[in-house]
Amino acid sequence: MKRFFSLTVLVMAAVIAGGVLEAQARKPKIMILATGGTIAGAQTKPGEASYTAGTFSVANLIAAVPQLQDLAQVSGEQFANIASQDMNNAVWLKLAKRINQLLATPEVDGIVVTHGTDTMEETAYFLHLVVNSNKPVVVVGSMRPATAISPDGPLNLYNAVAVAADPQARGRGVFVVMDDKIFCGREVTKTNTTAVETFQPMNRGVQGAAYFGQNRWFEPPGQKHTTKSEFRVDQAEAMPRVDIVYAYANAPRDMVDALVAAGAKGIVLAGVGDGNSTEPVIAALSEAAKKGVIVVRASRVGHGLVRRNIEVNDDKLGFVTAEELNPSKARVLTLLSLMHTQDPKVVQQKFYEY
Ligand code: SIN
Repeated sequence: MKRFFSLTVLVMAAVIAGGVLEAQARKPKIMILATGGTIAGAQTKPGEASYTAGTFSVANLIAAVPQLQDLAQVSGEQFANIASQDMNNAVWLKLAKRINQLLATPEVDGIVVTHGTDTMEETAYFLHLVVNSNKPVVVVGSMRPATAISPDGPLNLYNAVAVAADPQARGRGVFVVMDDKIFCGREVTKTNTTAVETFQPMNRGVQGAAYFGQNRWFEPPGQKHTTKSEFRVDQAEAMPRVDIVYAYANAPRDMVDALVAAGAKGIVLAGVGDGNSTEPVIAALSEAAKKGVIVVRASRVGHGLVRRNIEVNDDKLGFVTAEELNPSKARVLTLLSLMHTQDPKVVQQKFYEY
């Protein structure tokens, strides 16, 4: 009787364990690619404001949020471990190639990229244009290091995995998930040096809300991205040099001249107001445009559009305008466009489409 009872318990335990494994195997397969940043950052002393970004590994990040396993089959890869001010074209190319390779297999249903917040908006827009898949890609970070008194990284990571695992996220491009909000990679920008709610949309609003693993979705973005994008970098070894010139009262032309001399193929003006600058800077940019440099007028203001021929005669000077994109995103679209064309009229068209 006793033996029969223990046998029954064993069989029941095996059935339950089998069911649990089966349920886990049915969950979406999400790969976390870790690149560093504050989300992997550690303070030297608890309670200190200063810290070193990119200290913890992807395994540490996953282990810190055991609830991730309730959402998905989560695995991780340590892609890089840098602070995002050191993000560069070479890492972007490698990251895009790796993401496209992973998403092409049935082994991965979605990707989460952990990333520093400083250049997150640029990486997210770059990936939004070059990822060739409908599967969700989510870029996530944190404003407080992992060892802080109240770190924001664990919940951000949980929400990011929930978005990557959500079938409704498919076909909407690349996201940034921060502070319970789902942003389009094209639209999101960092607006505060240190606040947890630093990320905001530039012009069009958020893509959705992330409520502890439950998502609410709003209108999808209109512009072309991912599978509809013409920008492919899987065979690319390098990208053209594109720089940003910041406008301010009394700005001289020297920086524009120096960039042209250094071989810039594109220059984005982070202009005052509606994308303007001093007479000497505009003159230098116009000369650069005549030499074949793609000159894009954007604004340092942070919100609003820069349209053609309002304060500046773009037709006459040969300039492109950034429309809705801020300078750092305009730089991304300019460098990808330059891989296809050197014609400012064609580049302008890309700013309407993407
Ligand atoms: C970084 O961008 O790597 C540092 C800042 C941050 O992640 O918030």
